[in-house]
Parts: sequence; C-alpha cells; structure tokens
Amino acid sequence: MDLASFSAQLDALRDRALAAVAAATTPDALASVDTEVLGRKGALRALMAGIGGLPAEDRPQVGAMANPVREAIEAAIATRRDRLESIALEVRLAEEREDVTLPGRASWRGGLHPIRETEREIARVLGQFGFVVVDSPEVETDALNFEALNIPADHPARDLWDTIYVAEPATGAAAVAAATSDTARWLLRTHTSPGQIRAMRASEPPIRILTPGRCYRYEQVDASHGFEFFQVEGLMVDEGTSMATLRGLLDAFAHAMFGAGRPTRFRPGYYPFTEPSVAFDIQCVVCDGSGCPACGRSGWMTILGAGMVHPIVLANGGIDPERYQGFAFGMGTDRITMLRYAIRDIRAFLANDLRFVERF
Ligand code: PHE
Repeated sequence: MDLASFSAQLDALRDRALAAVAAATTPDALASVDTEVLGRKGALRALMAGIGGLPAEDRPQVGAMANPVREAIEAAIATRRDRLESIALEVRLAEEREDVTLPGRASWRGGLHPIRETEREIARVLGQFGFVVVDSPEVETDALNFEALNIPADHPARDLWDTIYVAEPATGAAAVAAATSDTARWLLRTHTSPGQIRAMRASEPPIRILTPGRCYRYEQVDASHGFEFFQVEGLMVDEGTSMATLRGLLDAFAHAMFGAGRPTRFRPGYYPFTEPSVAFDIQCVVCDGSGCPACGRSGWMTILGAGMVHPIVLANGGIDPERYQGFAFGMGTDRITMLRYAIRDIRAFLANDLRFVERF
C-alpha cells in the first residue's frame, strides 16, 4: 500500500461512515455504526493495520491524515446522537400529550323526576305571590286528616276518601303525635289538606303556604288513578281574603302553567272544609275547547279543588274566623304533570322505568 491509496481508502471510509451515520434512524443503529467504524475491531483500525506496508518516511503522515477523519466521524456520530435523542423525546412527548382543551365527557348525573319538576314549577309560579313551601307528614292522624277538617267520623263525606289506615305509627310519627297531642288513629294521608291545620297552628296570619307531597287512597288502580299519588296544597289566610283573590291567583297560576290567555272557570263543588267550594277548570289543553276524549267532550278539564276555608276549620287551626278569612286549594300533581307533558298513564310515574324518566 502506498500513501495515495491509503489516503483514498481513508476518504472512502469516511464517506461510507458519514453516510451510515446520516442513515441511522435509531440510537441502536447509530451505536452499531460507531462499533463497526471506530470500534476495536472496526474498519478504521483494520485500515490502520494495513499501514505496515508503507515506507517508513510516510508513517508520520498516516496519523496526521487519519486523526481528522476519526474526529470528523466522532463529531458526526455525536451530532447525530443528539438529534436522534431529541427526536425520540419529541415522539414520546407527542404520544403522551394530553389535550387539555378537549371538552370533558359529560357524565350522567340523573335528573329531576317529572313530578318533582312540576312541583318546583308550581312553587316557582306561586312563589311570586308570596307562597312558601312547607313540609307535612305522610303518616297522619285521623284527627288532622279528617276531624279538624270538618269531616267527623260518621260523616258521609268520608266516602270521598278511601283511607288506608296503619296499625303502627311509622318511624318519626310518634314525634308527630306528641306535637299534635291529638288522640292518634294513624293513617296514610288521603290528601295534603291536613297540612292546612298544621300550618295554621304553627303560625299567625298572614299565611301563604304550599305543601306538596305524596298521598294515598285505597283505589282501584287504572290509567288515571293511583293508590299513591301527589298533591300540592295551597293555603292563604289573611284579613280581607275573598273568592276574588282566589280566582285572580288561580287564573295567574293557570296562565303561567298552561299558557297566557287560556280560559278558566269556577264550577260549584263540595268539600267539608271549604265553603263555598269550587272546582277550577281550564279549557282543554288537548282540543282547546272543541271537545275530545281527553276532556270527556266537555271542552274543560278540572285541575284543582278549592274554596274559602270553613270557619270551623279556621277555628280548629287556632285562627279567629271573625277577623280572618282564608282560601285553600288542592291540586293533583300527577294530573298537572300529565297535562304538561302529554303523559297518558299515571302508572308511568312510579314504574321506575328509566326510559320514561330519562325523557325529561
Ligand atoms: N283535599 C281536596 C282533595 O283531596 C282538595 C282540596 C284542597 C279542596 C283544598 C279544597 C281545598 O280532593
């Protein structure tokens, strides 16, 4: 070998090595290039081993020629390693990237039952007139559910309410009995009206309250009757309260719930605890008054019972009937909800079918 051919081989090795470095796409591939070219058994050493055939005077030049080549290859490998490492980092960062601007997945939170929805809407509308919601128990005494409401034990009006009596007071009911001090015969309230007595006994006029809740009657269950159903009771007691006040309030209520301008009417009714008593009708929301199966072809639908609180009932509530007057109304929450959402069967409310409740 002469110096010229050594130099040519060195250049060729450098070019091959630099090309291999540039072509290495992974740190492993680069490490193999390093070993193959610069390693103990690598190409550069092999080439240097061949210099034994050179004339002695050329030897010093060999180192001077080989060193820059080695350094150039080492530098290329180092640069390439940096590059590959930063590419690897970028790839990892890209893979692990969290897009914090992605909208979250909505979780199913459940919703209000349509009955509850309607109770809230009723409370919202009547709340604008100063009515506040108060609680009243579902397990009641005969005394409050009937007697105090002017329905004595053998009164034929009891036929209006087919009562479910309970033998033992349910949890908490003993406390209720103590609070009322009425001799207890226990029942599941047949209406929310005992809440009137409780409210009158618990506060002084002016009184404006709503008591929403579950009621029970011993009923044959069908599409429009449940043995378990919901009512909202309203009671207002003040000086100068009249049927006109009641009518004005109920009109505003009907218009808020069923649309402004919907015609309404009072019909004579009967309840032992109100005098006079009325049924409050709205024009049929299905046929707008022309007559259809939903309204029994009458064009009207009754949405609640109401009347001026009977003086005996006021007195039973501890209120002076000479000084104060009051009106009360009671509505079927189920029925109002059915009208609002065009629900045909009252049994759907308590069937626990998620497909039904998820519609609201
Ligand atoms: N409690 C009556 C019922 O259940 C409704 C009503 C309430 C009527 C208040 C008049 C006044 O049918």
